[in-house]
Amino acid sequence: MARLAGGVVLVTAHDPEEGPRGEDVGMTATAFVSVSLDPPLVLLSVRTGSRMEELLERQPLWAASLLTDAQRQVAGRFAMKGRLSDRLLFRELPHGRGEYTDAPLVDDALAQIECRTEQRVAAGDHTLLVARVLRVALPVVEGRPLLYFQSRYRSLG
Ligand SMILES: Cc1cc2nc3c(=O)[nH]c(=O)nc-3n(C[C@H](O)[C@H](O)[C@H](O)COP(=O)(O)O)c2cc1C
Repeated sequence: MARLAGGVVLVTAHDPEEGPRGEDVGMTATAFVSVSLDPPLVLLSVRTGSRMEELLERQPLWAASLLTDAQRQVAGRFAMKGRLSDRLLFRELPHGRGEYTDAPLVDDALAQIECRTEQRVAAGDHTLLVARVLRVALPVVEGRPLLYFQSRYRSLG
């Protein structure tokens, strides 16, 4: 599967139960795909037992920001295992907040997709989430996607 080039997204969600004002959580992902146009459905595969999976078990609302090749550093930071806290990472990341999900949406992403989980399927060491698309925004007109291929971040061309 290292030979399958994938677009890189930052999956985000807001945890209202963590701390006095809640906490934002982010995770770099490539296992995010389009499923259906009518109704609009997408699918995310998330490692069972990860911080994100644990949150998405009780928080059906989340978002995916499709990253550009100028956002490699963002992808790298949100993929680090055992990082201390996403709070510090979001402090340094320009972002807004989804009106449907309250999830962080990365500024200057290729697209910002707000979702609500409709189905969960256990699949080996991952959990598949089928989700309804609630809203899409396209912040940049001319952006090039961030790709991941053979264990490296790449650009088109
Ligand atoms: C390019 C790339 C793609 C990734 N795609 C996924 C993914 O689709 N699903 C997933 O659960 N983890 C994926 N990961 C791993 C998570 O980003 C990483 O394990 C997580 O942020 C670390 O937190 P954890 O210790 O809670 O797993 C990916 C990592 C990289 C570098």
